[in-house]
Amino acid sequence: MLDIRFAVPALPGSGALGLLVGEGQAAFGLWAAADEATGGAVSRAFEAADFSGKDGQIVTILAPGAGLSRIVAAGLGKPAEFSARKVEEASGTLAAALMREKVAAIAADGVEPAHAASAAMGAVLRAYRFDIYRTKQKPEDLPKLTALTVLAKAPEEAEPAWETLRAVANGVFFTRDLVSEPANILFPAEMAKRIETLSSLGLEIEVFGQSELEALGFGSLLCVSQGSAQPPRMVVMRWNGGGDEKPVAFIGKGVTFDTGGISIKPAGGMEDMKWDMAGAGTVVGLMATLAGRGAKVNAVGLVGLVENMPSGTAVRPGDVVKSYSGQTIEVLNTDAEGRLVLADVLWYAQEKFEPRFMVDLATLTGAIIVSLGHEHAGLFSNDDDLSAKLLAAGVASGEKLWRMPMSREYDKLIKSDIADMKNIGGRPGGSISAAQFLQRFVNDKPWAHLDIAGTAWATKDSPSIPKGATAFGVRLLDKLVSDYFEET
Ligand code: BES
Ligand code: MN
Ligand code: ZN
Repeated sequence: MLDIRFAVPALPGSGALGLLVGEGQAAFGLWAAADEATGGAVSRAFEAADFSGKDGQIVTILAPGAGLSRIVAAGLGKPAEFSARKVEEASGTLAAALMREKVAAIAADGVEPAHAASAAMGAVLRAYRFDIYRTKQKPEDLPKLTALTVLAKAPEEAEPAWETLRAVANGVFFTRDLVSEPANILFPAEMAKRIETLSSLGLEIEVFGQSELEALGFGSLLCVSQGSAQPPRMVVMRWNGGGDEKPVAFIGKGVTFDTGGISIKPAGGMEDMKWDMAGAGTVVGLMATLAGRGAKVNAVGLVGLVENMPSGTAVRPGDVVKSYSGQTIEVLNTDAEGRLVLADVLWYAQEKFEPRFMVDLATLTGAIIVSLGHEHAGLFSNDDDLSAKLLAAGVASGEKLWRMPMSREYDKLIKSDIADMKNIGGRPGGSISAAQFLQRFVNDKPWAHLDIAGTAWATKDSPSIPKGATAFGVRLLDKLVSDYFEET
């Protein structure tokens, strides 16, 4: 992680300087000082580049004088619309432009003190890289920036805010690392091992293996892993930061690779299915975040970890399995495996912990990408209050949700001729029938299902998220907890 320091605003005499510029603002503070020290180079560049501080704009001035190697300015948009999120994005854009510098500072003297920590957050999040498997990177392709100074009006206020955000960034990175790993390295047992390292943060961790899951009667989860040489795991993480109230619960789909099984997927793009454990990865990063920042809440995270493979021992289309809830399932398509995993983990979470609510995350359906693209994750819920809180946390965190419908009519789509239900409901409304399936494993508890198939992985860079694993959901659910469920 980029090393962050806060300091009072003073024009640096060397290195690079990043400026956060609001739309229509006149030069002030460090911006004005930099312009003056460079004989007006900043104003001339803004004019030449038509730079007015619009959100998303960026201009770079190389060797502007005054000892500086470069000045980069990023637009913050209209001052009336400044927010933590805007500052974070503009700062992420600056960080990307500053990565080749050895020494850099970002001038955050124009934003409120609390937002100086957001400037740090944007830069840190954007600077993330997953390059452990590159052995031949050329020096000119490597970032040089290891530390960043944020020049802030009140560094002593920014620092504690950053302490909290740094724990969130650590959680996000834990998720991104897990989700980025290829499936030959990260199989269920290995993922469970990595989760166990989080006990150092104060999380209580319990790992269930094949025989424990058999003894519990997890017939639905186990039918998914039965075709794989890799045994399954379920991991339960507990964070006890609250009083004696019941915990909130987060449940994740952790299919470390999804070939589709006997209902095998086409070859093109199948490599994407290494990130079919993103729901579980997000739950893990969220639990790391809550522990890392000492959240005043009781929370439990549960992940079902399996590999979905075709083989002589694999589950077949038409097989009937018995879930941990006792309900039977006709498996008509072995590629609709995520719901089979979640079914048992949801039931267990509810029975064992009687949580205040449950939120599950899963890269569950391709259909949600057809519905919502890559901008919103699908929200399915039996509870309007929980939904409203999630939607608001989505707006605040920038990890946006869109609520989708559920109803009895959709539930009928999963009626089976032989068992209590079947695991597919047909192509129309495919994300909804998947959610209806999950709801069969939820007793009236407030519950929400987030289908993150469209948001877990990015194929291009955005301001504070480099392409690759996004960790979508970590910041959203951290916000949900901090805004609504923490004791004060
Ligand atoms: N993991 C996939 C869903 C997915 C697709 C995630 C694309 C990320 C990107 C899931 O297990 C799956 O295969 N779903 C099927 C369900 C169908 C067989 C009912 C799908 O979406 O096609
Ligand atoms: Mn599948
Ligand atoms: Zn899947």
